[in-house]
Amino acid sequence: MTSVGIDAIEIRTGKLFLDLPNTFAPVKGEDPEKYTKGLGLYTSSFPDVYEDIVTMGANAAKSLMDRKGLEPEDIGRIDVATESAFDNSKPVSTYIAGCLEQVYDGDFRHANKGERKFACIAGTQSLDDAYNWIKAGRNRGRAALVIATDTALYERGDPGEATQGAGAVAMLIDEDPDLVELSTEQGYGSMDETDFLKPNQQFPSVDGKRSMQVYLARMREALEDYESVAGRTHPADFEYIPFHTPFPGMVRKAALLGFRHMSRDTEIEDELADEIGRQPREADFETWDDYEEAIRGYMDDLKTTEQYRDWYDRVIDPTIDISSRVGNWYTGSVHIARLSALKIAAEEGKEMAGKKLLVGSYGSGAQAEIHAETVQDTWLDEIDAVDVDSQLEDRTEITFDDYELIHDVHNHEKEIEVEEFTQPEGEFVFTGWGRMNERRYEYVE
Ligand code: CAA
Repeated sequence: MTSVGIDAIEIRTGKLFLDLPNTFAPVKGEDPEKYTKGLGLYTSSFPDVYEDIVTMGANAAKSLMDRKGLEPEDIGRIDVATESAFDNSKPVSTYIAGCLEQVYDGDFRHANKGERKFACIAGTQSLDDAYNWIKAGRNRGRAALVIATDTALYERGDPGEATQGAGAVAMLIDEDPDLVELSTEQGYGSMDETDFLKPNQQFPSVDGKRSMQVYLARMREALEDYESVAGRTHPADFEYIPFHTPFPGMVRKAALLGFRHMSRDTEIEDELADEIGRQPREADFETWDDYEEAIRGYMDDLKTTEQYRDWYDRVIDPTIDISSRVGNWYTGSVHIARLSALKIAAEEGKEMAGKKLLVGSYGSGAQAEIHAETVQDTWLDEIDAVDVDSQLEDRTEITFDDYELIHDVHNHEKEIEVEEFTQPEGEFVFTGWGRMNERRYEYVE
């Protein structure tokens, strides 16, 4: 059986950043700890004037192609996942291919290009498409380029404003991958939901609290569905569990639910019984409300136990590090969570070859997907080569007034001229509109 998975990853962050506790909180009249302790966010990335989903995607893809020594002919497929597209017909992947063709000799003439939409889960769906294409033997030895790129902006004043972010993740999907192999087994939880949507509008209509409930409900169903094909899961099975991370606080909730589910009927539940009792079973309660109240009580106790805290610190906390510094990258967010964990494993000198990850993706509207990944022998070389720290450190800080300008620059309804905050160098930039209202790009040396 051919092994298929992620061969390499590169990211591209928006080049500006906003400090949430020190710049955003005072203007909003909020306690800074609402952001750091509550949501789990410190800074968020924003695109400079000349950046957008195409430049960030193309710049991440170019870093990846250069590092792996690839030419356009090596790529048989370019799938872009985004929920920030600006065109209902022409896919962002064609723009990105056009950018890349400016700097490589060959072209992507024979590559299948598309755009995937299902809110934040579209990045994982694109991985799936690439995986299936290779497994079906239709790739002719070529690899797939999956690019998850988003500018996650909310209406000014929306509670989601604190969770904004901008960036792209480029992934090479190939046979005999160098980073992680994807499991064939996967589980889904999918229902028609109205929690977060953009009905022909740039900024989302959001029911924030409902979106959190839907995330947890669909994620639980996806885990049960995954277990129906892969067998029961146990907290000790996985070195890391990267979740879709709209903000780290959401992951804290998902992790607790996941741990409760995975530890039910195991020695962990037995060990904890003296301290916090056994997990409530629905059959033991007369009403659903009583059962739910008992569950809430159990969860409150569970999260204070040493077993849970230790598991959370080892398996979950490393997945949210990058996200806490860049905000929500929508389609790229779960892929940043995986990268964050593997990067910390590399820094800690952990041996990861052969170890398993459980990856939980989510898209509003709504669907969750869960699959496992096996870390490959060559993982360390791959992770060491990814440029994350310098990109984050090189970002330029913006004041609240600058943030207001940048939000307006990227607001499709507004037309304002703003000086760029940084100088582009060795990257693709947006240069303006063409005669058919297409967006135009150039590579700046
Ligand atoms: N110190 C410590 N913690 C504090 C605090 C303080 N001073 N003040 C508040 N907090 C805590 C709150 O208790 C809360 O934590 P809990 O939920 O654990 O109780 C947390 O900080 C956030 O506070 P609020 O709930 O009061 O925040 P809010 O209502 O202003 O906004 C939100 C929260 C509704 C999630 C909002 O950010 C939002 O709408 N975000 C966009 C939607 C979203 O991200 N949903 C997530 C699921 S959907 C999804 O995943 C898809 C996607 O990418 C969008």
